[in-house]
Amino acid sequence: MTDRFSSFFDVFAPGNVVHNSDVFTESVKLAVPHVDAPPPYSPTLKSVLTVVTAKPLDTVSGDAPGSYLTYNAKTKLNIRGQGTVVANCTGPLALLFAFSTNDSSKSTLYVQVSETTVDFWYGPSPPQGSSGFLPADKVAIEGQPMAQSTSSYLRPDMPYPARYWLSVDHKNGILRFGRDYANLSMAMYQAELKQRVPPGVYHWKNEKFAFIDELTTVSVQQTGGSPTAAPLQLVYLPLPVVQKLPPIILPNDVITLEQLATGSATVAANLSPECQRLYANVAGSKIELDTEDFREFSKAIERSVNTEGLLCQTMLKNKSTEFGPDDYKSTYLRITLGSDLGNSPGAPFVLEIWPALHASPIHNHGDSHAIIKVLHGSIKAYYFTSLYDAVPIGPPANLSRGDVTWIDPNNYQVHQLSNESRDGSICCTIQCYSYGAKDLRHYEAFDYVNDDTHKIIHHFEPNSDMSFLDFKAAIKKEWQERRN
Ligand SMILES: [Fe+2]
Repeated sequence: MTDRFSSFFDVFAPGNVVHNSDVFTESVKLAVPHVDAPPPYSPTLKSVLTVVTAKPLDTVSGDAPGSYLTYNAKTKLNIRGQGTVVANCTGPLALLFAFSTNDSSKSTLYVQVSETTVDFWYGPSPPQGSSGFLPADKVAIEGQPMAQSTSSYLRPDMPYPARYWLSVDHKNGILRFGRDYANLSMAMYQAELKQRVPPGVYHWKNEKFAFIDELTTVSVQQTGGSPTAAPLQLVYLPLPVVQKLPPIILPNDVITLEQLATGSATVAANLSPECQRLYANVAGSKIELDTEDFREFSKAIERSVNTEGLLCQTMLKNKSTEFGPDDYKSTYLRITLGSDLGNSPGAPFVLEIWPALHASPIHNHGDSHAIIKVLHGSIKAYYFTSLYDAVPIGPPANLSRGDVTWIDPNNYQVHQLSNESRDGSICCTIQCYSYGAKDLRHYEAFDYVNDDTHKIIHHFEPNSDMSFLDFKAAIKKEWQERRN
């Protein structure tokens, strides 16, 4: 039996990349760079992540040639030899990461990133109290660009902060540099320092790499940037970037050995606690539209969407200026369930109704966790690297009734949903959102790209077109009256 999900399982494999021109409509406009403005990590996230902010202004260049503004920040690796360090910064010309052990007689790992190069080295530890030190007698560590990466690693001209991350994984012996969200599809450059030796264990290729097992601190220097922008900020995530988690979640009594082996689907237990909780709320078989009290609910919604003067089409037309001047094709209905409990961007559960050939703008999710289940019809989910360059990642996920997909702060944050049915079929999804349990920032908006106002970030505050119970009653009434 063919695995229905295999078409998008290896979405990130080399050569398996969607080009802008393949993306649903308005493709040319996607080539225009868009501003991405991830808000800086709040210091209040300290309880869950280690967040360190450089001094507001470290040094500013004088008139001396070759001197630049620099920021220096340092943080611990709470787990020796592993973790992901995210440098959140604006306009860097270069970033220098130095990972050290507690023993200054041991080597330090240096990673220098410029706009067009990534270099890994090891060498003597920096002298006490120094910053931005790069020893003359350093030894290069061979690395390779990742298949889908571009040759541009930093964004010196971007006037907003971007996230540049470095993952150190001593167990697998892999160093990775990436941009935007800390996941494997965003990795741009890597070095593999271990090899498999009989009887099937991994050893350092060179014993001189063994100091990586003991790394305990990282210091980062940003060279270049704007004195008026937010200073360099470091975030330490205890886990390295290791594996690609597929966008599809299957129940654990359904997933097969083959799907586990190929990684074409995952189970909720592999996801964040927030995603697990959301999944437990909506994945059940009784979370469906056409229930005993109204068997034709989805059919009635479809009629209401596709018939002029009926409730759904009227609401859609009324909101057709929401994402730009009279953009009917970008509209969908948001029918909310439950109250905003203060733990999600808007109501925690939203029934979304997607007319045929309508698509959302490309948008992010304010670093929230989310679960999306298709209740009726089918929809495509396109994924992108960031709002700034909107480079598609892999082919879209084709989601049909019963399928469940997910989003978390580091995965699938930037997407576009698109109902591409040609026969007027609507798609209905239930979306549920949650902030991280310890996320005290609660970024109350989704940012999106507007084709008419490039380079301006837009914030969409999740709203409600109607509450679910009122909507169901109104559609039922409309359906019952259809022959009158
Ligand atoms: Fe979304």
